[in-house]
Amino acid sequence: MNILITGGAGFIGSHVVRRFVKEYPGYHIYNLDALTYAGNLENLRDVEHQDNYTFLKGDILDAKFLEEIFEKYQFDGVIHLAAESHVDRSISDPLAFVRTNIIGTVNLLNIARDHWKDKKANKRFYHISTDEVYGSLGEDGLFTEKTPYDPNSPYSASKASSDHFVRAYGETYGLPYVITNCSNNYGPNHFPEKLIPLFINNIIENKPLPVYGDGKYTRDWLFVKDHAAAIDLVFHKGKNHETYNIGGFNEWQNIDLVKLLCKLMDQKLNRNEGTSSKLITYVKDRPGHDLRYAIDASKINKELGWSPSVTFEQGLEQTIEWYLNNQEWLEHVTSGDYQEYYDQMYK
Ligand code: NAD
Ligand code: TYD
Repeated sequence: MNILITGGAGFIGSHVVRRFVKEYPGYHIYNLDALTYAGNLENLRDVEHQDNYTFLKGDILDAKFLEEIFEKYQFDGVIHLAAESHVDRSISDPLAFVRTNIIGTVNLLNIARDHWKDKKANKRFYHISTDEVYGSLGEDGLFTEKTPYDPNSPYSASKASSDHFVRAYGETYGLPYVITNCSNNYGPNHFPEKLIPLFINNIIENKPLPVYGDGKYTRDWLFVKDHAAAIDLVFHKGKNHETYNIGGFNEWQNIDLVKLLCKLMDQKLNRNEGTSSKLITYVKDRPGHDLRYAIDASKINKELGWSPSVTFEQGLEQTIEWYLNNQEWLEHVTSGDYQEYYDQMYK
């Protein structure tokens, strides 16, 4: 099989690429990535010389380029992760999210539809989405696959739109697709603009930890390697025209998570207990901030047998270890434009 993975130089994509390259020596994995600020080939150093791996630098907005690579490599499957992925950036620049997340996805859909027209049988378009499309929960309840879409941020609106397009191409053109909606991921190689890696980096540098609003917002956290395992399973065993929710069964209020992170970081850095939590600083809330996300992952559990393999404490510990052992990676990604972004966002 020739498989196209888009966004493979990003956080989740790099874990998916690594898993497929290593687990499936009989497949050839093509990683298409535009290498935006979030894409980093350093994430894939350990697989870049494998015979069954090829990196293709390109933009999913470039339909001609997509046409050329589909023609040349005759892909059997697409696992589509390329996206603008950060809510705060979507608030400052919604159009960037419309371009990549909506138009880029429709470009890929058009090409897959046209190339697979007479040979759909063993093809698969796998679209990776987020639980944020469902909007915000109150104190109770869980998102199921039947929860109506109700996105609140430009990011989640763009992801919701791309999900609808994927479904529409399934209904209208018979494109064989599958979609998964996953909760918040954490783990190695996460760009330090999202909560966990940003706060790990700030603790290392003794910088304030900017908690939005009252810190009582709740997210359901999943270790990125468990997400990659779920993606592998759904790609191979999921049913066409179905969606599956993926989640960690692991809800945390931001402030409790931040306090746990501070405690673990104090231990790892041999600092006195309480040192890092002194850095917690409550700042202005994010506009349109969703109160709570929580996934009911029982469908993927019952139908495909997936469940997370690590506890949150184990995953967080592995994550912290990784950042402490890969400070060069952190230095590289926080040089250049990062400082400008940081100053703008947290001025
Ligand atoms: P990321 O921002 O770390 O990586 C995105 C990758 O896409 C980068 O390598 C970037 O260079 C590439 N990219 C961006 N625009 C592109 C374009 N126009 N053409 C080609 N490549 C482009 O994102 P992530 O956190 O790894 O998320 C991957 C996917 O998973 C996204 O679709 C996201 O919506 C979804 N998702 C993320 C989470 C999460 O917690 N991070 C949770 C659920 C779903
Ligand atoms: P984030 O990692 O941006 O993921 P998402 O918004 O997609 O859930 O944020 C996770 C939670 O942490 C969210 O409630 C916003 C909050 N947050 C902060 O309090 N401070 C920060 O600096 C960031 C980036 C996020």
